[in-house]
Amino acid sequence: MPFLPLRGLPPTGNASLADAWLERIADRLARPIGDITTDRAVLCRESLAELCYPQYATNWETAVNDASIPTGTRLALSALDPRNITLEPEYYSDCEDARFQPVKPLLWLWYSFDRSPIGGQNVGLGVALRRLLAPHIFKRCGENFKAFQHVEFSFGYNMDVGDNVVVHRHVLLDDRGGIQIANNVSISDYANIYSHTHSIVDQRDVTNVLTVLEDGVRVTYHATVLAGVQVGEQGMVGANAVATKDVRPYHVYVGIPAKSVRVKPNAPEPGTILRTSEHRVPR
Ligand SMILES: CC(C)(COP(=O)(O)OP(=O)(O)OC[C@H]1O[C@@H](n2cnc3c(N)ncnc32)[C@H](O)[C@@H]1OP(=O)(O)O)[C@@H](O)C(=O)NCCC(=O)NCCS
Repeated sequence: MPFLPLRGLPPTGNASLADAWLERIADRLARPIGDITTDRAVLCRESLAELCYPQYATNWETAVNDASIPTGTRLALSALDPRNITLEPEYYSDCEDARFQPVKPLLWLWYSFDRSPIGGQNVGLGVALRRLLAPHIFKRCGENFKAFQHVEFSFGYNMDVGDNVVVHRHVLLDDRGGIQIANNVSISDYANIYSHTHSIVDQRDVTNVLTVLEDGVRVTYHATVLAGVQVGEQGMVGANAVATKDVRPYHVYVGIPAKSVRVKPNAPEPGTILRTSEHRVPR
């Protein structure tokens, strides 16, 4: 197969505007004025108003209360402030408000940017914005984190992410029970990583359990990794597979339920590959 590394592109014509915009957000995140949740809510609202409703950016509050403006417009304007909307995890009784409320404004900014005209498929700016927001949302975020558009989280605050991790478009990272991602991991388009599960008898009976992707793992297109699974170092979950049990290091698993079809040719000598049970991180 041909070796096709990504190519660099020249800066876009609005690069200096983009840099200035990102710098302003980074600055605000580094220096909250007073209460962090309130400050981030205002940052989110102001950023979205500038991008999506520029005519109301400087008089947002007046416009929300202005009866001469159509009700739907006032509702849409009010929803730029994350305190006026609900996100799904807020309905979960295991959601820790003290941890979720400070990250909620940043999640709302992330999701809303992705659905805005300037966001959407705008890769360069989107990757830069998400790289800026992620360390303020996750428990840990390593160097060079790269997320494409329409990635979703559960809590966000239970993400533990290493260096050089790439998350492609439309990935669901359900970190309710925690997702631990080591270095150099790639999660492809439309993949789902879960860390909670429901009893087959009563769906209110929820089990949260850490899901782990070790160094160099690739979860490929449309694959699903179920709660509590540990994908071993350099393990690969093939397109559309459902990993219901641990994936052995250097093994390629495919199908539903996912089974090993091969060991990668770059695997260390067979006797030196640790079985996942020996490799398991303590929970
Ligand atoms: C997992 C994958 C890499 C396996 O490729 P491979 O090692 O070359 O494996 P093979 O094509 O030789 O297939 C081995 C067997 O598994 C089957 N198989 C391969 N991929 C499968 C899949 N995703 N689901 C079900 N079965 C699959 C093949 O049909 C073959 O079965 P057979 O022996 O009965 O004929 C590949 O199928 C895949 O899913 N690629 C995803 C694309 C990708 O690389 N994404 C990353 C983007 S960042």
